[in-house]
Amino acid sequence: MTTASNAPTRNSDLWRTDLGALDPKAYGLPDDRELAAILAGYFPDFSAPAGQSFAPALVPQGSPAVLPAPTPGSVESGLASGVSGVRLAPAPYVGNIPLQTIRADFPILEEKVEGKKLVWLDNAATTQRPRQVIDRISYYYAHENSNVHRGAHTLAARSTDAYEAARLKVARFIGAPGTDNIVFVRGTTEAINLVAQAYVKPLLRTGDEIILSLLEHHANIVPWQIVAAETGAVLRVAPVDESGQIILAEYGKLFNRRTRFASLAHVSNALGTIAPVEEMIAIAHGFSVRVCIDGAQSVSHMPVNVSALDADFFVFSGHKIFGPTGIGALYGKDDVLEAAKPYQGGGNMIADVTFERTEYQKAPAKFEAGTGNIADAVGLGAALDYVSQIGMANIAGYEQALLNYGIRELARIPGLHLVGTAAHKASVLSFVLDGHSITEVGERLSRQGIAVRAGHHCAQPILRHFGYEGTVRPSLAFYNSAEEIDQLVRALRQII
Ligand code: ALA
Repeated sequence: MTTASNAPTRNSDLWRTDLGALDPKAYGLPDDRELAAILAGYFPDFSAPAGQSFAPALVPQGSPAVLPAPTPGSVESGLASGVSGVRLAPAPYVGNIPLQTIRADFPILEEKVEGKKLVWLDNAATTQRPRQVIDRISYYYAHENSNVHRGAHTLAARSTDAYEAARLKVARFIGAPGTDNIVFVRGTTEAINLVAQAYVKPLLRTGDEIILSLLEHHANIVPWQIVAAETGAVLRVAPVDESGQIILAEYGKLFNRRTRFASLAHVSNALGTIAPVEEMIAIAHGFSVRVCIDGAQSVSHMPVNVSALDADFFVFSGHKIFGPTGIGALYGKDDVLEAAKPYQGGGNMIADVTFERTEYQKAPAKFEAGTGNIADAVGLGAALDYVSQIGMANIAGYEQALLNYGIRELARIPGLHLVGTAAHKASVLSFVLDGHSITEVGERLSRQGIAVRAGHHCAQPILRHFGYEGTVRPSLAFYNSAEEIDQLVRALRQII
């Protein structure tokens, strides 16, 4: 360990071999020169905060990755994991809550697959549900089930209260001004189709332009192709740099007097890139263009405030944030929801109907024709309560440390190429492995109980941009542990 007198002051000091009596070679560790070569690739901007010791806790290979005696509430930043045989994993606390307490809330994490304990690293595809969500849905069906907004009986009041309370939870969770700004939908895909059909399509004329980015999921491409084909509008696509980050200057150049709308991923599901959406929204607004943010891959990983972002629309799915499938939310500012046409017609969305004409309810009812997914909306509310109690900032801090640890551990595997290396990333560790197809890797990991997605992740344009038809994609949530990363790394080393 360093002492006050030999505390490093420059990057190049951090890994010198005169730290006390330690000779790294004697421990099977790389020397200064080897370390510098390893670190140069990963920590170009790394510098030592004043007075802080940088000596990593030494964890011999094969022993648990998690450091002994962590400080509750602190998150180590995984500084030393580029060093062979030495790892500094995040402390197993999310905020002040022990990771094991959190994991105990998720029954499926005890599940055995292929005779092994499940390692769920497919969180970008869907997250797992805590007991609190499962129990809330059961309670709804056991004690509250009824249609909503209809009927004078007690259960109608209970179910309506539960459904509308869930809407309030969504509004508060994403910083919306009120419940009238929140429309329940089936998920992100339905929400984007709603925005495209109900708000944007009526604005479009031949030659008008819609701006997307290269990072988009198919759900934020195909609905726009449909309205473009119907109206003669065209799509313009913001490029990314070699790390997979949006090139803001190029994005700005796409806007002109024909631009009618922009729809942008907050976090790429294929690469994990966190797009600079605040700046992107500001640029669009500078051209009086409204923006929809696809938050499917961001809401479960970081605090989101749609009012601070000044997003015109923001959409996400419940199942990506520990809630049920088949439910999601669309946020819209008052004026865009007012301007949008009804998406579907039917009961619940009307104020008055004759055979000659229909008078619609205001938003959100205007966009919620028919009986909605009431129980799962209530379940989504329970999921948002759950993560709010832990704290989204705590979740973001822990996950970021775990992601950094994962990136550094994976990058040490010979022949493994990370796809998507932006400085700002969340959750996703996409990679390819020389000499092994992504299907083979996915199947062999599954035999070890490790669930990852292997494929194109419904984001073919961005993967093809980097020359791939698919990747292996581990993706993290706050219940994942450093041990699980180590299991993944061990399984990959067995494959190679
Ligand atoms: N959009 C989900 C994913 O990225 C299904 O896997």
